[in-house]
Amino acid sequence: MTGEVSERVLRNGVNDGFLVSEAAQPGTPGALALEQMQKIASGGNWRYIGSQPRGKMEIPAYYGEEGKRKKMGRFLMKLYYLLTIPISLGILLHSKRIHPAYRLTWWKKIVFGLRVVRNRHRLRTANSYKPLLVMALKLFELSPEVSGVVVECGTFKGGTAASLSLACKIVGRKLIVCDSFQGLPPRDSLDRFAAKYKPGDFCGSLDEVRANITKYGDIGSCEFVQGWFQDTLPHLDRKIVLAFIDVDLEASLNTCVLNLWPRLVDEGYVFIDEYMSTDYCALFFSERYWKENFNRNPPGIIGAGSGLALGEYYIGPWGERKDHPLQHATGSAYTRKSMSGYWAYYPSDARG
Ligand SMILES: C[S@@+](CC[C@H](N)C(=O)[O-])C[C@H]1O[C@@H](n2cnc3c(N)ncnc32)[C@H](O)[C@@H]1O
Repeated sequence: MTGEVSERVLRNGVNDGFLVSEAAQPGTPGALALEQMQKIASGGNWRYIGSQPRGKMEIPAYYGEEGKRKKMGRFLMKLYYLLTIPISLGILLHSKRIHPAYRLTWWKKIVFGLRVVRNRHRLRTANSYKPLLVMALKLFELSPEVSGVVVECGTFKGGTAASLSLACKIVGRKLIVCDSFQGLPPRDSLDRFAAKYKPGDFCGSLDEVRANITKYGDIGSCEFVQGWFQDTLPHLDRKIVLAFIDVDLEASLNTCVLNLWPRLVDEGYVFIDEYMSTDYCALFFSERYWKENFNRNPPGIIGAGSGLALGEYYIGPWGERKDHPLQHATGSAYTRKSMSGYWAYYPSDARG
């Protein structure tokens, strides 16, 4: 099918389809389709990004045979997603290490898991429910005798924080939600990831985040720290058992690690969201970074480059995922204070 692309619609940040030039002429099927899409885009997870003239080009057919195949592919993915929810809940929340003090029966775990799945669909977030379950499990496994808070750096609309707050309620810990509440900061010229984003992207106001957590999480477990990380985190004088750093920018990741790592307890975890980028994960393997800042070997990071294997098929690399429509990276990556990821192995200078 060939035509002039005039409009584009994104769903969950994924290019979801094109409307062709008939859209411009009133009364044509294209115009009706445009009207429909604008209606859909104004609610739910859809984001309408307006007119994007692109000139003549080959357009992926949305109708006809190819369209049917696409719809079928999507239907199968949704079916797979739905059918695997109980399996994922069962597998990801099963552990012989869950601390008995939390009295987590299977029923409580399933109710918790279903609330996390629901939050994923009610609140705007790009994160899957599965990494959330992994973080929750790590919290359920930690002894209540280990004191410390949970920190989320980078909250957007509070989609992940709402679910993390539910886990915090179960384990009786505070969740400290840190964000500018005005989106991403101005670009740092040394940041290799800054060009992908604009200052102000991913903006969620404090009021919005509070309202979302009140509705879908446990606001009583939360404290909020508003401001740029370089100004706020140096004053965060708390022991930390788990930090979720979801900040997109390399410069922000650096600020978070420099300030949070010294406060992380020995059994503590750091989770990140940008697991798919090996450059981003390099910080956790850099001998020089860890020697100069913390006088230790790097901790490494489990899931770097591909994400934790959480039941989806993802072969990578990230930039080619559109060519593999049935693949889906549902991941996260984490490190633990006591882990080692020394990345310059040579037999004669290998160290324990
Ligand atoms: C991708 S969003 C977080 C998504 C969120 N965790 C979720 O699950 O929906 C990135 C967030 O990091 C925040 N952020 C990034 N760098 C920051 C900095 N240096 N200081 C304060 N906030 C920052 C932005 O305001 C934004 O809310």
